[in-house]
Amino acid sequence: MTRTLTIRRPDDWHLHLRDGAMMEAVLPETARTFGRAIVMPNLVPPVVTGAQAAAYRDRILKALPEGMSFDPLMVLYLTEDTDPEDVARAHASGIATSVKLYPAGATTNSASGVRDFDRVRPVLEKMAEIGMPLCTHGEVTDHDIDIFDREAVFIDRVLDPIRRATPGLRVVMEHITTAQAADYVRAHDSDLGATITTHHLIINRNHILVGGIKPHYYCLPVAKREEHRQALVAAATSGDARFFLGTDSAPHPDELKEHACGCAGCFTATNTMPLLAHVFEAADALDKLEGFASLHGPAFYGLAPNDDTITLTKSDQATAFPAKIESGAGPVTVFDPGFPVYWS
Ligand code: DOR
Ligand code: ZN
Repeated sequence: MTRTLTIRRPDDWHLHLRDGAMMEAVLPETARTFGRAIVMPNLVPPVVTGAQAAAYRDRILKALPEGMSFDPLMVLYLTEDTDPEDVARAHASGIATSVKLYPAGATTNSASGVRDFDRVRPVLEKMAEIGMPLCTHGEVTDHDIDIFDREAVFIDRVLDPIRRATPGLRVVMEHITTAQAADYVRAHDSDLGATITTHHLIINRNHILVGGIKPHYYCLPVAKREEHRQALVAAATSGDARFFLGTDSAPHPDELKEHACGCAGCFTATNTMPLLAHVFEAADALDKLEGFASLHGPAFYGLAPNDDTITLTKSDQATAFPAKIESGAGPVTVFDPGFPVYWS
């Protein structure tokens, strides 16, 4: 028995493409399926200015294999020294789609992020004025806050005060991992959206820690309890347009994942759409997949959906995804959901 599902070509509203040899390896994995992606700016050094974003965009397009089409949507990394006028110019010229707020020290390459949120107030006010969205890594970094509570505390201590102080600021809560985050989105309408990753719809914290530590399931924000995973599935499959796909596909070479101090990130670019088809089908919500992956994101960002389509196929044979992809920076393990998937 074969079953097919044709949907508008999806986009990825949160993606790490890296640079150089790693970018060359991972870019086709995304461009094969996705029309556009919001490209994270946490390179070393970070992509802070409009000029740096334009140069990074050129490098991405140069690395795109012949015959593939893909539109990278660039993001500026917010620092305490970011110039509001540079942000406004980059937005007006179409170079930058959004700005990313990393609390300093929250995750990979976030050392240049924000410590004192008052210092970025002029940038946030300018963004509210010009309608440019802010993408947030929503975790506090206070040492006394348990890592599993850092998202919920960020909402109370940072996000909600910023939103109250900056009316009209459009915010995307990136890669939400908790019921609290989904509830916060639902309680505040039009200016707020949230991305949900593929892996947070599949794993909870037991998958990382029970029966031996699984470094390829370690990412930030870290996966939470099963009840939170279920809340994310409910949000993603609800049809609510404020929730949309952002894979946070974040490649690291295996030697840096399988390490005494392993890097955070799950690499899902290769198999995201079949995994999502599985998750949505299991929730009896295959009809909601197109909204989540292909329609809600463009609507939030004020863009048209992609014109063309992709077709997902379900067969009786489990799909054999590659275990790893090769990159010039070493092999990268493809996210393994831990159960057979029949979609491709
Ligand atoms: O798991 C993650 N990996 N979370 C992030 O926020 C950053 C990302 C990366 O860049 O590796
Ligand atoms: Zn990310």
